[in-house]
Amino acid sequence: NHTNADTLRTPIVAVLGHVDHGKTSLLDKIRGSAVSEGEAGAITQHIGATDIPLDTISGMAGELIDPTDFDLPGLLFIDTPGHHSFSTLRARGGALADIAVLVVDVNDGFQPQTEEAVDILRRTGTPFVVAANKADTTPGWNPQDGQPIQRSLEAQSERAESMLNENLYEIIGQLSDAGFSADLYWRVQDFQKNIGVVPLSALTGEGVPDLLTVLMGLSQRFMKEEMQIDVQGPGEGTVLEVKDERGFGATIDTVVYDGVVRNGDQVVVGGQEEPIVTEIRALLQPRPLEEIRTEKQFEKVAEVGAAAGVKIAAPDLDRAMAGAPVRIVRDRPVEDVVEEVKAELAEIEVETADNGVVVKADTLGSLEAMANALREAEVPILRAEVGDIAPRDIAVAETANQDEHKAILGFNVDLLTNAETELESADVKLFTDDVIYQLIEEYETFVEEKQR
Ligand code: GTP
Ligand code: MG
Repeated sequence: NHTNADTLRTPIVAVLGHVDHGKTSLLDKIRGSAVSEGEAGAITQHIGATDIPLDTISGMAGELIDPTDFDLPGLLFIDTPGHHSFSTLRARGGALADIAVLVVDVNDGFQPQTEEAVDILRRTGTPFVVAANKADTTPGWNPQDGQPIQRSLEAQSERAESMLNENLYEIIGQLSDAGFSADLYWRVQDFQKNIGVVPLSALTGEGVPDLLTVLMGLSQRFMKEEMQIDVQGPGEGTVLEVKDERGFGATIDTVVYDGVVRNGDQVVVGGQEEPIVTEIRALLQPRPLEEIRTEKQFEKVAEVGAAAGVKIAAPDLDRAMAGAPVRIVRDRPVEDVVEEVKAELAEIEVETADNGVVVKADTLGSLEAMANALREAEVPILRAEVGDIAPRDIAVAETANQDEHKAILGFNVDLLTNAETELESADVKLFTDDVIYQLIEEYETFVEEKQR
């Protein structure tokens, strides 16, 4: 009955927001509700992602969704853990995610990482909805587990409802300050023009049916308008993380957003210096839901099709970069694919100057975001790279002509142990932070002091 289910690929939904605002809890709730509805087997746990099929979603959304209105296979949710920047989620010069859920704690409102996420959503033009989470913490709240939010509101005292509303309007105001016209989702007609705010609780599940309904509507329209993909072609993806896995060496956790990836395929991956050309030795997926949390056991699969998260094991992946492109070669000259990857990396390449600071970041996406922010702040960059801070970076920073440029700005990276002693004896100032604008502010304060 779902006629187009084979031609429309599963939309990729990024879940982002400030630390502790409830991203993982929200996904847990969606997964958990699905499991408790006896749908555990229908859910596929991917690397860094969870695939929820349409039938499961419509089961959870209940009366709010008529599944015959949709012909999407389901939704692939990507959690962005901790402060691990959403900016890793890039693909072909744009955003990897088709749509996003911005999770905001109703009590806390916008926080630094919320602002940062909104900046990236704006820059990449990614449609999003706001999950105004933790509604259940409103004083005097009368929980209505798993109910649509309107139902739940009917059960609240006037006082509780107005307290929640106050917080919701605060968030709507903050969205407006950020340049987005937003409203409570039931007042929004066109979710691409106006941002819908869905009050919910990841703990009690109230409002979650509403969120799923809004997401389905938004992605259905979006996929039809924007997505033209070749689900059978050579796979294309993005590296989420480079990880050592016992028995496999360096592996890449990858989100495949187009085509098919098969075991044994030749693959080109963006690397620290040159694109890496290698052959896939194993495609690994986490075992079913219950197991993934406690033990890291993987199942070897023969192939995965977009959209999916998969761990790729292959030789020479230790120099792969988070945020870099992954391209399956299949039936084309490998040089062409290498050129393609190079061209994509060149797009992200940061403009450098003869004088400036050294920048290090955890992923290509965050390096790009840092470079943008520094350009706006008119801070020149001498060298910018992905990776932890090494002795070589300190040596490079020391060569700067001006004192104010003898600095390293590290985003989400560590100082390697052998670089510690180097730093002590060097005339180089190190700044590290996991919020970009705070990092730049710290640097600017240092410059002001120098100039005094
Ligand atoms: P990071 O991954 O560290 O960025 O955090 P997160 O956004 O994934 O937050 P997480 O889901 O880990 O939740 C943080 C804390 O908030 C946990 O203690 C949750 O139990 C709590 N929490 C999340 N959602 C809700 C909610 O709707 N209601 C209440 N009362 N607590 C919540
Ligand atoms: Mg989390």
